[in-house]
Amino acid sequence: MIIEVHVELRAIDTINAVRRGDVIAIVDVLRCSSTIITALVNGASEIIPVSTVRKARQIKQEHPNYLLAGERKGFKLKSFDLGNSPKEFNQGRVCGRGIILTTTDGTKAFEIAKNAKHVLVGGFLNAEAVGKRIHEIAFKYECGVSLIACGKKGKLSLEDFICAGKILDTMPANEFTFSDSARAALLAFKGAGDKTLELVRSCEHGKYLKKIGLMEDIRFCLRTDFSNEVPVLFEDRITCLKREDLK
Ligand code: MLT
Repeated sequence: MIIEVHVELRAIDTINAVRRGDVIAIVDVLRCSSTIITALVNGASEIIPVSTVRKARQIKQEHPNYLLAGERKGFKLKSFDLGNSPKEFNQGRVCGRGIILTTTDGTKAFEIAKNAKHVLVGGFLNAEAVGKRIHEIAFKYECGVSLIACGKKGKLSLEDFICAGKILDTMPANEFTFSDSARAALLAFKGAGDKTLELVRSCEHGKYLKKIGLMEDIRFCLRTDFSNEVPVLFEDRITCLKREDLK
């Protein structure tokens, strides 16, 4: 069986992966995916990703006990409980709590993917675990693979592209057929080598986060294979349960 692997370069291109019926891993290293992974590792009960601030506030009215979190232009929003710095989502703050999250790009990809069968959350934090889970699902369900390197504001982001390459590097290449975009991501990851932190610090969104005082977030998001948890989107909620366990 030949399994095709694609890397999509913008959040809105998630639609291509949904149409193909692929197992999807959404990668927004800075910082949406990293925040989601951290929150769930620290015991959050579930995350509802939403693309607009208005919708996030509406859902908060229906779930007054949930924490309202997210950013625009990198900053926490007025009257929100949390921003989008993964470090804020520590055990004390999130354990046992549901979270409504809206971010500039990452949560858009999740909204587009909500009717897909297999949607995972990937980052440097759980790269190896995501690669393994993708492999498992692709062969079990005989479907293609798409990594969504979410990018920023409709443009490619180097950190997401390199991270997609890192995830692909954990997958047995001889069992898959990589598209050109997948091969390019793998080459970018291999080319980055031990300069990954430096590269991410100097990429567009990395420079922006540094400018607004969030340099620590970059280091935090680049802790490779920090966790074995692979968050899963099921309908409109993200948890650490496997799809089989959710049925
Ligand atoms: C996004 O989803 O666009 C990001 O997570 C932005 C950020 O907060 O750095």
